[in-house]
Amino acid sequence: GMAEKAGYDHFMLKEIHEQPEALRRAISGRLSIDNQEVILDELKLSSEELAGYERIYIVACGTAYHSGLVAKYLIEDLVKIPVEVDIASEFRYRDPLVSQDTLVIVVSQSGETADTLAAVREAQDKGARVLAISNVVGSTIPREADDVIYIHAGPEIAVASTKAYINMLMVFYLLAIRLAQIKESISQEKAVELIADLKNIPNQAAQIIKDSEELFKEFAGDYAEHENAFFIGRGLDYAVALEGALKLKEISYLHAASYPAGELKHGTLALIEEDVPVVALATQKSVLDKTLSNIQEVQARGASVTGVVLNKKEEVVDALDHVIEIPETEELLTSILTVIPLQLLAYYVAVEKGCDVDQPRNLAKSVTVE
Ligand code: G6P
Repeated sequence: GMAEKAGYDHFMLKEIHEQPEALRRAISGRLSIDNQEVILDELKLSSEELAGYERIYIVACGTAYHSGLVAKYLIEDLVKIPVEVDIASEFRYRDPLVSQDTLVIVVSQSGETADTLAAVREAQDKGARVLAISNVVGSTIPREADDVIYIHAGPEIAVASTKAYINMLMVFYLLAIRLAQIKESISQEKAVELIADLKNIPNQAAQIIKDSEELFKEFAGDYAEHENAFFIGRGLDYAVALEGALKLKEISYLHAASYPAGELKHGTLALIEEDVPVVALATQKSVLDKTLSNIQEVQARGASVTGVVLNKKEEVVDALDHVIEIPETEELLTSILTVIPLQLLAYYVAVEKGCDVDQPRNLAKSVTVE
């Protein structure tokens, strides 16, 4: 009933609004008092053991898999070791190249996804140590894994994951900084800067919810009348674009696809015509010019572009149909913020279309069969 939804029309909207608080819980107790150090007390793995890994494998399904794609960028950037990300139902059936030298990280909100659980067992059979990142305390995957970090998102009811995804990202940020500190792959100065920016993220998340909610309530109707939508971005923005496209498919039944912006010209550009909705993420400064020129390419073909950007004042951005500005933060940390407008977009399009937001057709919150 309405009471459990705390006045919101749907659990999904409630959970979107709970994200700043959920993020605070994920950080809470995991920073030293002087904010110089990430502390992950729950790990049985010692610092020496953690420092010893030269390779990481991340395995998951659905939204949890998308959090792993963001983690790959983070860990490779900060820790300078290669990270493979795999879908659990692929990993488990293909004799994956893991051994005792590999740290296998599995991510699962529910802790009960059958394919992810099978991946845990497969990795352990091959001698790898498995670290689970999960939301549900005492669920099967954390129980079988060798180590666990809980994301503390609180109960997530809506089938489409929102606050769990964001908290998975937060835990990955903490883990990446911790690994980088142990391995001394970044300076202490850089670590302290990242930690300071990370602490600021919950407040910035609240700001983004406010800004983008107003915008999307207004023009979700523009999207609702289309059958297709495209999401583009580079680097971390691409990883988040995949999650944005999944949200739209799950609850509003639009066909949505996500592409690295630079790959558009190798095929997908053929589908861009008058009025096709494109969501362009352009927060990664090192590739900003490249992304902006991709935006111009789709605009020139008549696409209706919604930009998620760091700075509205760029000339190209100024010419977009709709723009959401992300508050200033370290480039690596933008993912938590950029996904929020995409969640709200999917939500308001689904509402506009009269879809069953919390329980989309054919989908389950937790897939415990294979
Ligand atoms: C289902 C849910 C998704 C979720 C995926 C993985 O498909 O509908 O929202 O991302 O399972 O679930 P897990 O609990 O393992 O994160």
